Amino acid sequence: MAARVSTRRGVIWLLLAAVCLWCAEAGGGRAATTTTPTTTRRLQQVQRHLRRLNKQPVKSIQSPDGDIIDCVHISHQPAFDHPFLKNHTIQVKPAFYPAGLQFDDRKLASKKKKKSAAAAAAAQLWHKNGRCPENTIPIRRTKKEDVLRASSAKRYGRKKHKSIANPLSVEPDILNESGHQHAIAYVEGDTYYGAKATINVWEPRIQQANEFSLSQLWILGGSFGQDLNSIEAGWQVSPDLYGDNNTRLFTYWTSDSYEATGCYNLLCSGFIQVNSEIAMGATIYPISRYGSSQYDISLLVWKDPKEGHWWMQFGNDYVLGYWPSFLFSYLSDSASMIEWGGEVVNSEPDGEHTSTAMGSGHFPGEGFGKASYFRNIQVVDESNNLRAPSGVGTFTEQPSCYDVETGDGGHWGRYFYFGGPGRSSNCP
Ligand SMILES: *[C@@H]1O[C@H](CO)[C@@H](O)[C@H](O)[C@H]1NC(C)=O
Ligand SMILES: *[C@@H]1O[C@H](CO)[C@@H](O)[C@H](O)[C@H]1NC(C)=O
Ligand SMILES: *[C@@H]1O[C@H](CO)[C@@H](O)[C@H](O)[C@H]1NC(C)=O
Repeated sequence: MAARVSTRRGVIWLLLAAVCLWCAEAGGGRAATTTTPTTTRRLQQVQRHLRRLNKQPVKSIQSPDGDIIDCVHISHQPAFDHPFLKNHTIQVKPAFYPAGLQFDDRKLASKKKKKSAAAAAAAQLWHKNGRCPENTIPIRRTKKEDVLRASSAKRYGRKKHKSIANPLSVEPDILNESGHQHAIAYVEGDTYYGAKATINVWEPRIQQANEFSLSQLWILGGSFGQDLNSIEAGWQVSPDLYGDNNTRLFTYWTSDSYEATGCYNLLCSGFIQVNSEIAMGATIYPISRYGSSQYDISLLVWKDPKEGHWWMQFGNDYVLGYWPSFLFSYLSDSASMIEWGGEVVNSEPDGEHTSTAMGSGHFPGEGFGKASYFRNIQVVDESNNLRAPSGVGTFTEQPSCYDVETGDGGHWGRYFYFGGPGRSSNCP
């Protein structure tokens, strides 16, 4: 029986090979007449980039959203393409956690708060179709189309510079931030060694594919000049980066203000992932619905005082991995500012403000179940303690488009609501 199957398979393969020889010839003929040298070179660059990014998987899982999640052996991940990491010994877990980390704050919160104000934890959609084995990490496979949407293979997975909110500038320079708009809470003026927050997850509408909407925390070191260091984590909807409107978990890092270093997720070498269950860039599931169930994610980023690496944890259970200290200049010591909140790109399509939404697309005043929130925002201080931040400021370029309102108290600790719909009669 087995022999017959394999023989039949052999015949099919032969047939396929013959068809392919024929189609390659036909394709080659067509290529000579219609493909310009530039596009051929571009495609070759894209293929080379894909070979660098997509490592040989041990197992692959097809996610319901069309993603392929590759389970790649932990020692074959993109980080180890970095020349400085050739002899790196992976740290399987952090040497230190910040003191005061409450692993079960959700249970506490839902028991003591009234039931309607409780949210459940969100995880990832691809889990419906399988899990990665031990000693592998899940990586969202990059497709040819993903890279082709970027202006060049080199720019794929990188932010355009000058997009970060500088709440300390005297006058917010909206035009020079290339249309990026923010509604954030922040602290500065101290040394920080980490930050934590619980964020509810939405799927904001994006008007145009070149715009995005995200909710994240920023850990910043240095000035807002050319050498800004940044570690970022949160959720984002970015049609350009992912090819759809799904809400995805993401990270970002840079050590030179988005110029030459850094990238989203694992799209360059830097972040070392140790976790086999959570994939960077994968769709978060479930997400919150307006006036209905609320789902949130908890993120913690902190500096290991012994090794100096910046670690990241998702939820109560998943230590995702770390950014080695050598990637950074200022952040190899400490952070000087922490920001939490939302950002959208306003490309002013049709000469009007974009209708791309921030957060849930509703203003902070609508409150729980309707507006987007960050709750239990905390910082790690120089004694490695997690604590509520003091002197929290807020910043938004145009409160009539996207706004932010802070609050304090109960089991939500320090919190804020933020977001908005974008274009309206008050935001033309
Ligand atoms: C890695 O180890 C090899 C052999 O010990 C050594 O020659 C090389 O310089 C090391 N590379 C780095 C980047 O430390
Ligand atoms: C942007 O910044 C440059 C240099 O700092 C300045 O010359 C220019 O006037 C700014 N543009 C706007 C529109 O503010
Ligand atoms: C994303 O949403 C926009 C606006 O709602 C829509 O025009 C576009 O077709 C969507 N894109 C995809 C890939 O679903």
